[in-house]
Amino acid sequence: MDTAKVDPEKPDKDIMARAGEVLRRGGLIAFPTETVYGLGADALNPDAVARVYKVKGRPSDNPLILHGNSLAELEKAAIFPRDPDSAVYKLAESFWPGPFTMVLPGQGFQEDKKTVAVRIPSHPVSRALIAASGCIIAAPSANKSGRPSPTQAWHVAEDFEEGGIDMLIDGGPTHAGLESTVVDLHTGTPRLLRPGTITAEMLQNTLGEIPLITNPDMAQGGRTEDAPLSPGMKYRHYAPKTPLILLVGHPETVRAVAKSYGDKAGFLPAHGEDPNKIARDLFHNLRWFDRMGVSVIVAEGVKEEGIGLAIMNRLKKAAVEVIYL
Ligand code: TXA
Ligand code: MG
Repeated sequence: MDTAKVDPEKPDKDIMARAGEVLRRGGLIAFPTETVYGLGADALNPDAVARVYKVKGRPSDNPLILHGNSLAELEKAAIFPRDPDSAVYKLAESFWPGPFTMVLPGQGFQEDKKTVAVRIPSHPVSRALIAASGCIIAAPSANKSGRPSPTQAWHVAEDFEEGGIDMLIDGGPTHAGLESTVVDLHTGTPRLLRPGTITAEMLQNTLGEIPLITNPDMAQGGRTEDAPLSPGMKYRHYAPKTPLILLVGHPETVRAVAKSYGDKAGFLPAHGEDPNKIARDLFHNLRWFDRMGVSVIVAEGVKEEGIGLAIMNRLKKAAVEVIYL
C-alpha cells in the first residue's frame, strides 16, 4: 500500500495534492479525521463509491457520511432548511467543524436514498484532502466491515493487507477515538442515531427548548435489558477477533470477576480512568489485545452519561456477552 506520513497539524502540500489527484481519478484514500480514519472516495463518482463498499465488505443498505469543508459545499449533497432559526443551524454553529454528523434530506444524486448524512471535519488532514481534491468525500470508517474502527494508520494497514486502498495517509493517532455523533434532522425533529464525543447533554444544551429524541435501545447497543446474559452475536460490531465480555457493576466486584478469567485474559479497566482517554484508546486497545493473543477481553463498563453513553454503545456492540453484576 502507498503510505505517506504527514504532520497532522500541517500536512505536506505535495502529498495532499497527490492524494487529491488520486481521489479525483476515482481512487480510494485512507486518511485521519478527528474521530477515526476514514476510507474516502469522490462522493459524486458512483464507481468509486461502489469500490468503497466492495473493499470494506459493507452491506449495500448502509449509507456513507459525506464530508465537506463548508455548508456551501455540503449544499451540493444535502438540502438545508430555509429557516435561519432551524435546529440545523444551531447545531452546525456549535459543532462544526467537528466530530458531528447530521442526516438531512438529500439533493437526490444518490438515486435510491431520500436522506444524506453530512459532516464538516476539523482535522487539518481531512480539510486539506477535501480542499486538494475539490471533492465532497464519502468516507466510512477505514476498517473491514464489523471490525473496530481504525484510530491509527497501522489499524488500517492491518485490515487491508491484501490491498484495495490506493493510498494511506498516516497522520498519527486520531483525537476522539470514537466515530462522530449522528443526529437525524430530516424530519425537523432531532433524533440521536449514534452517540459520540459530542454528547446528548451537549446537543440538548444547544437545542434549548427543542427536545432531542433518543432511542432507548441505543445504550444497549441494540440489545435489550431483558436478556443481558444472552450471548447473541447478532448485533456484534466494532468487534475484536478475541471474544469480549463486558462487566457492569461495582468496581471491586468487577475486578474480582475479571480475575476469575485467569492470567491469559486481557482486562480493560474503567474505574478511575479519564472517560475521554477510554474513548480515545478503546479501539486501539481492542486491536492490541488481539495482537497479544489474550484468551478473552474483559472490559469494565462505565456510567451511561456524557461520553459514557458512546463508550457503552460501542462496548455493547463489540461484546459477545454483557454481564450485570
Ligand atoms: O466519525 C465518523 O463519522 C467517521 C469518519 C470517517 O468521518 N465515519 C464513519 O462512517 O463512522 P461509518 O460509515 O462507519 O458510519 C456512518 C454511520 C452509519 O451508522 C450509517 O448507518 C449512518 O452513519 N448513516 C449514514 N447515512 C445515513 C442516512 N442517510 N440516514 C441514517 N443514517 C445514516
Ligand atoms: Mg464504521
